[in-house]
Amino acid sequence: MEHIATATTEKDMPKKVFVKTYGCQMNVYDSQRMTDALVADGYVATETIEDADLVLLNTCHIREKAAEKVYSELGRIRDMKLERQSAGGELVIGVTGCVAQAEGNEILRRAPAVDLVVGPQTYHRLPDVLKKVRTGKKVVETEYAIEDKFERLPRLRRTDVAKRGVTAFLTVQEGCDKFCTFCVVPYTRGSEVSRSVAQIVAEAERLADAGVREVTLLGQNVNAWHGEGPDGSEWGLGQLLFRLAEIPGLARLRYTTSHPRDMDDALIAAHRDLDALMPYLHLPVQSGSDRILKAMNRRHTAADYLRLIEKIRHAREDIALSGDFIVGFPGETKADFEATMQIVRDVSYASAFSFKYSPRPGTPGATMDGHVDEQVKNERLQQVQALLNEQQQAFTTSMIGRTLSTLIEKPGRQPGQKVGRSPWLQPVIVDEKVTEIGDIIDVRITKTGFNSLFAEPV
Ligand code: 5AD
Ligand code: SF4
Repeated sequence: MEHIATATTEKDMPKKVFVKTYGCQMNVYDSQRMTDALVADGYVATETIEDADLVLLNTCHIREKAAEKVYSELGRIRDMKLERQSAGGELVIGVTGCVAQAEGNEILRRAPAVDLVVGPQTYHRLPDVLKKVRTGKKVVETEYAIEDKFERLPRLRRTDVAKRGVTAFLTVQEGCDKFCTFCVVPYTRGSEVSRSVAQIVAEAERLADAGVREVTLLGQNVNAWHGEGPDGSEWGLGQLLFRLAEIPGLARLRYTTSHPRDMDDALIAAHRDLDALMPYLHLPVQSGSDRILKAMNRRHTAADYLRLIEKIRHAREDIALSGDFIVGFPGETKADFEATMQIVRDVSYASAFSFKYSPRPGTPGATMDGHVDEQVKNERLQQVQALLNEQQQAFTTSMIGRTLSTLIEKPGRQPGQKVGRSPWLQPVIVDEKVTEIGDIIDVRITKTGFNSLFAEPV
């Protein structure tokens, strides 16, 4: 019988999706899960925007700059769409994430080339939304349906995980009930929802089974996670970490981001007792002034924070602290700012993020009196960053000559290198012949770059 060749037409080709991620690690996780949902629906993921039939911008609303970036990117993609259309093709444009949640229909008004707007709680509906879009409709989905989100997303596939490497994020909690007066998160991500122990353990086991060695638990307020243990008792993040540490193959655990008010004794005990829990803690304080902390609705004082740090360091001597700082919150005086500088000196951070206060629509801070001059904000930011950089440098340099356990993660930027991570999240560069990706080995630090460490095997 004669072989009949079938020509593949453009129509038969699988559709390609390109996802661009802005903002926090939870968006990175969400982008992966959206991609998984679309791949399960017949899409192919592409790393090149020019190849894509569908472009999704997974957006961040935390500061004005982040949100505005999205609109300038949408301008560029609209031009691509117009070119495509004049050549008889199509390009579907979607906005997901926190700008989608916060601005909804406003996005279609400002950027009419957009076809769909989907908030962070409804990603599992993406395949259905896309079917509607293909009939020529514009779709805006910004309901809160977070309970469904985790239940309905497709199960993680071994192959998807394996190609993403030996470290992974795992969302355990989403949303925030703290209502810091500068922050949009309680409005964009909704109120706190914790995933169940069973779901989390199952996802962690699938990750470990696919070769993942290190899992970072994610939540906007991750240490507010709570759930019911298998014996019916109430669990917090500490108990959950003990359970996850039992999973064979998972050698390292991390979690981010935490609120000082939710660092309970069980969690501190986990830092004391669990080798798998890495000695690194991101614990934002935002300001060192009690007056500003109160105006920010942080619900603790500078002294509370310092006492907590002491307790944590007592439990785990080698823990490295990281933080977030905001300068120029409404009403911040020179003395308030000096208190922030002082708390930085008192704690001594291994790394930190610092920002100029950015008024966010709908948050209480935006309408407070005493907005700080942009010039003053710039000066204060420079000052606090100089101090934080100095501390980070000192921490990095203190590694020289030490032997550190390092998880080898991927090929390095330069040929002949592999790069891993120290327990304190520092990139560690070794000769590529030293060992295989996924191994955890002891290496001796020989010299440092700005933040990275160079090492040789011991
Ligand atoms: N302006 C400046 N920084 C902000 N952050 C959150 N909201 C704002 C804002 N309106 C910072 C906080 C938070 C981090 C994720 O972003 O420091 O911890
Ligand atoms: Fe925002 Fe405060 Fe909640 Fe963190 S704790 S997400 S800063 S409201």
